[in-house]
Amino acid sequence: MGGDDMGQKRGGDLPLFLDERTDLRSYRRKIKEKNGATRKNHKNFSRLSSLVSRLFSIFVATMSEAINNVKQAFDAELAQTDLTNQEAVNNLRVKYLGKKGAVTDLMKQMGTLSAEERPAYGKLVNELKVAVSEAIDKAIETANQAALQKKLESGFVDTTLPGAGIPAGSTHPLYDVREEIIDFFSQMGFEVDFGRDIETDWYNFEALNTPPDHPSRDMQDTFYVDDKVMLRTHTSGTQIHYMETHKPPFRMIAPGHVFRVDNDATHAPMFQQCEGLVVDENISFADLKGVLQVFMNKLFGEGVKTRFRPSFFPFTEPSAEMDVSCVFCGGKGCRRCKGTGWMEIGGCGSVDPNVFKNCGIDSEKYTGFAFGFGLDRIAMLRHAIPEIGLLTSNDQRFLSQF
Ligand code: FA5
Repeated sequence: MGGDDMGQKRGGDLPLFLDERTDLRSYRRKIKEKNGATRKNHKNFSRLSSLVSRLFSIFVATMSEAINNVKQAFDAELAQTDLTNQEAVNNLRVKYLGKKGAVTDLMKQMGTLSAEERPAYGKLVNELKVAVSEAIDKAIETANQAALQKKLESGFVDTTLPGAGIPAGSTHPLYDVREEIIDFFSQMGFEVDFGRDIETDWYNFEALNTPPDHPSRDMQDTFYVDDKVMLRTHTSGTQIHYMETHKPPFRMIAPGHVFRVDNDATHAPMFQQCEGLVVDENISFADLKGVLQVFMNKLFGEGVKTRFRPSFFPFTEPSAEMDVSCVFCGGKGCRRCKGTGWMEIGGCGSVDPNVFKNCGIDSEKYTGFAFGFGLDRIAMLRHAIPEIGLLTSNDQRFLSQF
């Protein structure tokens, strides 16, 4: 490989490196020729770029003129349009902003432009679009107002048209039962005590004449916080709290949640009860029957009958289960009352003297009655609800029926 080859070429016939073999005279000549050509190229380039920038200014001027023309045409048409006419305003909107509208056409041009042309053009055409859209929005508003005014002035308001409904909630069937009970007993002079969900063994069992090994505890197993503290199994403990803090005569009710290890179609692990307690001189079982009969009539109607079945509760003596005649078959016997014609609502009885003793109340002077019924059961009877769990499942399909 010779030196010429090594230092040659790249953009012409000038050697890149000089060495002893280089012909300096021809080298200088070539340099001169080269410089001349470069100067010529520079001149040509600056001529070309000024041509480009002139063309660009012409382009911008042409485009801005086109945009101005559309704007002027729009302004003129807007001024001619009857702004009280919704159809005319809409036609104007379609003509300029519709799919084939004049402004839309100009927007579409963006895609045909070069990267240098696009920003200047885009700015102008966007300004046009904003101005036209704002003017059209205003015109639509004016036309709508005018149409409404016209309707009102014509004196015709179609009151049969359905209103824009706001979906309203409703009260829960258990809440309704509870409120009804509170209303009824308040009117009868009963005080309302809400008690507490967590009880000690003393209030839930022992003070109610139910010592630790009493067999009736088996039916009321519950969730224990520790050996002596639990979720209450019934509202009867509220009787004790109340008697400890009030002197007879008194009458009270105590609605609230209770908890048991129960779970089937008519038994829930958490349900609501309402306790009732009346203490005074000469209170008898007949008073209990009278109050509860009136209450059942209030809940289920005048035709409903009550029945008091002998039963056992450690804290009442005598004790009874109260049934109402089946509200579905009127007492004839049906699937819902299991053919008996009766439905159990709650337990009741005369207060056991031992309970009075535990609360420091003179059982020689005072007597009383107590009752406790299930609110869920009452709600189920009233609405023919087949499963107790539905009441607490929070299912909108179920709840929206009330
Ligand atoms: C008691 O709970 C007694 N404390 C009632 C009482 C009060 C008797 C005062 C005497 C004096 P019982 O366990 O039967 O009783 O429950 C009363 C009512 O609560 C039942 O009739 C029923 O309506 C309702 N009930 C009981 N267990 C459940 C349960 N797991 N789910 C739904 N309701 C229930």
